[in-house]
Amino acid sequence: MKPKIIALLGSPRTGGNTATLLDQAIRGAEDAGCITEKVIVPQLNFRPCMEIFHCMENDTCAMKDDITPFYEKFKEMDGLIIATPVMTMGVPGALKSFMDRFQVFYMAKYWRHNSFISDDRAKMRKTLLISIGGMDIPDDFEGVRLTVHAFCEIIDCPYWGEVLQNNMDEINDITTRPEVMAEAYSKGLELGKHLMG
Ligand SMILES: Cc1cc2nc3c(=O)[nH]c(=O)nc-3n(C[C@H](O)[C@H](O)[C@H](O)COP(=O)(O)O)c2cc1C
Repeated sequence: MKPKIIALLGSPRTGGNTATLLDQAIRGAEDAGCITEKVIVPQLNFRPCMEIFHCMENDTCAMKDDITPFYEKFKEMDGLIIATPVMTMGVPGALKSFMDRFQVFYMAKYWRHNSFISDDRAKMRKTLLISIGGMDIPDDFEGVRLTVHAFCEIIDCPYWGEVLQNNMDEINDITTRPEVMAEAYSKGLELGKHLMG
């Protein structure tokens, strides 16, 4: 069976610069032989974690909405691509709320000490981060990195690689940077090849 990669888009702009880089990485992963599923997170209909804590003792969330099918999808996937702009020095709200709903995975792993993902499978899984920011400052990606690292630990899909580009306010159109476009493609290809084994 072909490895499956879920590709999360954190930007609401489906034709924007983040989406353009994500599409490059998806093309690379598919060229390597993987199956991909692109998810436009800001278009999902769901509420943020309400701290009901149903997931302390249960494998599921008490809230039933567009997040529900992703619990099974995140157990089954082999790889993850997270593509996101920096917003207010971190991950945009919709994507952050998506991640917070994986408290279901946190509780299984750290509270009940029984992760949904076996150690062997966790070692095989990989996450690629693609992120862009408008500003030209040294620490532009620190917030995004911290959040994505924590999320990767929680869902047992280890942080594997990144494609980062700041200064987008000046660059404006990522297609004017063919080297970044090529990097996104080749990271997607490399990720795909790793997962193909
Ligand atoms: C609400 C909002 C907050 C933002 N905050 C930051 C920020 O803190 N740091 C930064 O470098 N860029 C920030 N930006 C700029 C975006 O990261 C940048 O415009 C990015 O290229 C947008 O990606 P897109 O083309 O996929 O929409 C912000 C943009 C928006 C809309």
